[in-house]
Amino acid sequence: MTTTPKTTVPTRPLGSTGPVVSALGLGCMGMSALYGEADRAESIATIHAALDAGVTLLDTGDFYGMGHNELLINEALRTAPTAARERALTSVKFGALRTVEGGFTGYDGRPNAVKNFAAYSLQRLGTDHIDVYRIARVDPDVPIEETVGAIAELVEAGHVRHIGLSEVGADTLRRAAAVAPIADLQIEYSLISRSIEEKILPTARELGIGVTAYGVLSRGLISGHFTRDRELAPGDFRGFSPRFQGENLDHNLDLVDRLRTIAEAKGVTVAQTAIAWVLAQGEDIVPLVGARRRDRLTEALGALDVTLDAADLAAIEEAVPADAAAGARYPEAQMAHLDSEH
Ligand SMILES: NC(=O)c1ccc[n+]([C@@H]2O[C@H](COP(=O)([O-])OP(=O)(O)OC[C@H]3O[C@@H](n4cnc5c(N)ncnc54)[C@H](OP(=O)(O)O)[C@@H]3O)[C@@H](O)[C@H]2O)c1
Repeated sequence: MTTTPKTTVPTRPLGSTGPVVSALGLGCMGMSALYGEADRAESIATIHAALDAGVTLLDTGDFYGMGHNELLINEALRTAPTAARERALTSVKFGALRTVEGGFTGYDGRPNAVKNFAAYSLQRLGTDHIDVYRIARVDPDVPIEETVGAIAELVEAGHVRHIGLSEVGADTLRRAAAVAPIADLQIEYSLISRSIEEKILPTARELGIGVTAYGVLSRGLISGHFTRDRELAPGDFRGFSPRFQGENLDHNLDLVDRLRTIAEAKGVTVAQTAIAWVLAQGEDIVPLVGARRRDRLTEALGALDVTLDAADLAAIEEAVPADAAAGARYPEAQMAHLDSEH
């Protein structure tokens, strides 16, 4: 059973200096990359439906489909009703270096590169400013102060409204916040990815930095829709993500079955329970959901009507304890790029 949204989407402030955004953001990555083919018309219809429902935050990266995702958002915004377009806020990641074949070859956070990335993104998005701008991964050769300083200059010039960070640890949060106000940290956080709870989340809270949580469904793994026999397209991230392999997948889907028992008792879906769990972790956390079809979006929005009381949260914790997942959240080579894991 899917709880269909009854209320309009509530809002949450993004940190103490960021914009007020819808309590759920729409992550558009899967409409262009990483999870196999997506239907363009359905992707645009999903963005329109999200805006119509009151979602204001659209998350993207210039490297998602190497510009494809920004052009898709451009088209969706151009064809949306004026009021919806005017409410929309863009959250854009940059810095990943790509090859023609689609490979990833590193990150570039040099100040001139930051301004170059921004110039191209503004063109592709067809807007005169980006609402939140962040480097996707810290460039190990460039101090974070320089990268953030360059975004601060873009803010000064009116091309960017707010500065964000992505997948950084507590020390980097402090160093960045010493340079300029930071609106939010975008980082993976879900029932089965909880490493931020120890140090990163308390530091973000101390500094007044909000969190946009991604992977709240662990890329579909804990959505309740992922099955052992799912065929994945070549290049699908899940084809090489440790959590989706062999015995790890079996173990993790067993956890989903435990979650399903709790969800069914509440008359909601597994995905709604997983999203509601993240929403319940604090008003300063805004989950991004990677819906790329309207039916998935409707399901995700239904999470806003799910209340998890203390007994529900305890039952979820017992069914899926903090470190219950089998397998790391990224393959080893990608884990190495995560400042948040060092
Ligand atoms: N900062 C970073 O490093 C970083 C990294 C990754 C992502 N992100 C951002 O976070 C966003 C969300 O991440 P994500 O897409 O990996 O995470 P996600 O929301 O955990 O997973 C999305 C996947 O879950 C499946 N799903 C099943 N039921 C769903 C439902 N009701 N609603 C939404 N999805 C459902 C979808 O698969 P089917 O379409 O096959 O049903 C979709 O591919 C991305 O779009 C991107 O903007 C940021």
